[in-house]
Amino acid sequence: MMKLCVKIYDKKKYLEINKLKEKYYITTAIAYTSGKPHIGNTYEAILADSMARFKRYQGYDVFFQTGTDEHGQKIEEKASVAGVSPKVFVDGVADEIKRIWNLVGVSYDKFIRTTDEYHEKQVQKIFKKLYEKGDIYKGSYEGWYCTPCESFWTESQLVDGKCPDCGRPVVKSQEEAYFFKMSKYADRLMEYYNEHPEFITPVSRKNEMVNNFLKPGLQDLCVSRSTFKWGIPVDFDNKHVVYVWLDALTNYITGVGYDADGNHLDGYNKFWPADVHVIGKDIIRFHTIYWPIFLMALDIPLPKRVYGHGWLLQDGGKMSKSKGNVMYADDLVDYFGKDAVRYYVLNAMPQDNDGLISWESVIDTINSDLANIFGNLVSRTIAMSNKYFGGLVKDANVNEPVDAELKEVATSAVKKVTAKMDEFRISDALSEVFTLFRRANKYIDETMPWVLAKDESKKDRLATVLYNLTESIVIGASLLYPFLSDTCKKVFAMLNVELRGYDQLGEFGKLTQTTVTASPEILFARLDGAKIMESVNAMIASRSKPEITQPKKEEKPMIDIEDFAKVELKVAKVIACEKVEKSKKLLKLTVKLGEETRTVVSGIANAYTPEELIGKKITMVTNLKPAKLCGIVSEGMILCAEGEDGTLSVLSPARDVEDGSSIS
Ligand code: MSP
Repeated sequence: MMKLCVKIYDKKKYLEINKLKEKYYITTAIAYTSGKPHIGNTYEAILADSMARFKRYQGYDVFFQTGTDEHGQKIEEKASVAGVSPKVFVDGVADEIKRIWNLVGVSYDKFIRTTDEYHEKQVQKIFKKLYEKGDIYKGSYEGWYCTPCESFWTESQLVDGKCPDCGRPVVKSQEEAYFFKMSKYADRLMEYYNEHPEFITPVSRKNEMVNNFLKPGLQDLCVSRSTFKWGIPVDFDNKHVVYVWLDALTNYITGVGYDADGNHLDGYNKFWPADVHVIGKDIIRFHTIYWPIFLMALDIPLPKRVYGHGWLLQDGGKMSKSKGNVMYADDLVDYFGKDAVRYYVLNAMPQDNDGLISWESVIDTINSDLANIFGNLVSRTIAMSNKYFGGLVKDANVNEPVDAELKEVATSAVKKVTAKMDEFRISDALSEVFTLFRRANKYIDETMPWVLAKDESKKDRLATVLYNLTESIVIGASLLYPFLSDTCKKVFAMLNVELRGYDQLGEFGKLTQTTVTASPEILFARLDGAKIMESVNAMIASRSKPEITQPKKEEKPMIDIEDFAKVELKVAKVIACEKVEKSKKLLKLTVKLGEETRTVVSGIANAYTPEELIGKKITMVTNLKPAKLCGIVSEGMILCAEGEDGTLSVLSPARDVEDGSSIS
């Protein structure tokens, strides 16, 4: 009885008493299956993933849904060009999207597809329900249709005679269609906006909706089409298929188990209404006008918030397939590794604007933030703990005034990061963490441990300094964990500590003592920008060239014997070899050079299986600066010949020689 009263008056208390976690339902837009998603679409999945992981870390019971929007004329056309059925086509693209989401670590709880049987059935029932209620009626439509956006427009909505959303040409179209009575709910929607000022973030987007759509008066919305077949049939009039937005938007309720007959699955009862829909700025109208109105018509509570993020735009011009410069997440991950890509895109997007991206700035950001600020702090701290205390980190409590500021920055970080996350200011949340890392680096300069180390009487002060640094890293890496989980796990392993619990982060000094690793790994190797850009430009050029023309082999200038002598070449024996999990092109080889063993990453996975290489003697450059590929440090380069058709062949000595033998 007591519990019931508490439940009614104070939900938070009720959850606490019953040891239940508060739920949090977060979704991304569902991506069109018209082709491979570029880094812009992938950004949204990474963004929502970081938000979901942060909520999980805070202790919420999170349900994170993403998926694919698979119906519509455009997809029907693409499938026909590809010579396959629409279902076969969307199956392929949906698999590719899942692969990419997995590659960048999207920790979704559900991947919904609008071709899922449960979803299709419910959309049919919803359509019928709204028709029987009188909110959907049959009429005839004459208007302007934008095929890529799947949107009808009235004459007055066009901008210079073109689609107001994408600027592409529209075609005049007339057909019998079903309509939804939008205007009936306009006042209620306005009320909802006023009562829930946080509904649309950022607020500038709310003003846009009110001024451009609600105030001028809502038009009834066309919710069926009869000029193409690839959609969910209206079951009582199967000349028609459901217009994609009604189909697509309902994924948010069908995914958790909404049932139009009222027999909802548990997931719906538990998780609906959604706590936030994360979407791009171009589809805010659909999510903050049509979607809430559909829900009102169905008597379903509205989502709490809609966050419309900006777009990632390519610095120096629009991404275009014909220029070959579209940036894809899998290429970026191949070059830089998952966590670096996640950090880069999250950091690149401000909340109120678009974000500019380029290959060059990925390299700069990795070098400046991840290698110099974060990586360096961790490696310097571990190295000094090893050098001065054999790895033992323990507070000796010899405090000085300079410690106070570091401790203050460290202990206030959790509040600051959380506040930014609550406002959906993700790049600002990341910079709060980096403020702590920067402060810790400055603390090293201020305390100068190498000077303290020279004076035996300062040994305890030195221990305190290293303890303070380690503790700051644990707090910072714990806050960074939802964003860069693999990297932070490595940090915890090297420090020999656990992820610090969210509610423990406001206090300094939770670490009792630890012994750090004696052989720390480099978290982010500094990248050689010029070298990487050479390879990136070659990749872009090979993608933009017409299929049939052969690339012109570049002639290299003559060199002196001294130039050649700079290159150290040796015979190596492959003792182990495996595929690099996150990459289609890369193999990781362990090679023996006499006494020495090295790891080399090589782009030969298309030419060799690991088994073919194990035991082989090969040749390699051994004095190339180490480079990180897919998170693995490569300590050399395997020599290969490339045939006219691009086939790669590893070079081996013609007679058997000892591994480690030099080549000249
Ligand atoms: N299928 C619709 C959404 C239906 S939701 C019920 C759709 N699909 S989309 O594939 O075109 O876009 C998916 C998401 O990616 C959208 O939120 C869109 O705004 C976002 N982005 C598309 N290009 C983008 C960038 N360049 N940058 C950031 N986000 C981008 O719209």
